[in-house]
Amino acid sequence: MSKKTHKKTKVTLLEHSYDGIQEFDQHLPNWWLITFYGAMVFSVFYWFVFFQSNSEGVNNVPRLESELARIESAKLAGAIANLDNDMLWKMSRNAEVVASGKETYVANCASCHGPELKGGIGVNLVDDVWIHGPLAMDHYNLIKAGYAPKGMPTWGPILGDKKIAEVTAFILSHHAVPADPNGADHAHSQH
Ligand code: HEC
Repeated sequence: MSKKTHKKTKVTLLEHSYDGIQEFDQHLPNWWLITFYGAMVFSVFYWFVFFQSNSEGVNNVPRLESELARIESAKLAGAIANLDNDMLWKMSRNAEVVASGKETYVANCASCHGPELKGGIGVNLVDDVWIHGPLAMDHYNLIKAGYAPKGMPTWGPILGDKKIAEVTAFILSHHAVPADPNGADHAHSQH
């Protein structure tokens, strides 16, 4: 059997016939083929960029996490007016707050307390010994007021409440969260 070509349209009628239904051998329109092959090329490109690369701009998970930390830290910043032990410990587990606290620490405190917080001119801040009280608020208040007789500067007027809360959170981030943040027997260092 030979293919039959329609005289006027030049469309070929294919040989096979299914239950009497025949099929034309139509050339697909170019615009359709371009979108079809284009989609194939795009899918390969897309797959590489979104699933094979770990670049931060494209991978949404770290972006979402940092966005959540940012929202949380904005909420915490609003809570500084009613600061207490629980709030400071909560801040110490927030990546954004701890990062800000670290900046303040490196710029102002590391010279005396050491880059690893292990002390020098100032005392060790990662051991379990707290001269000025074991509670998170004790550290906060001491940093704010300072302790002139031993050479710990007064940071209140220099840093302000927010930065002091953040740097306190940074110090606490080196300690395990106590079962009772308001009890005296916490301060168990992770180091
Ligand atoms: C000029 C040196 C110096 C600088 C700078 C300094 N400190 Fe201190 N800090 C000390 C000394 C000395 C003590 C010990 C006070 C004492 O023996 O009573 C101390 C004590 C402390 C304590 C109390 C520790 C305890 O056992 O109760 C905390 C908390 C503290 N500093 C945090 C900070 C933070 C946060 C900063 C930066 C904002 C800072 N210090 C900057 C010298 C310094």
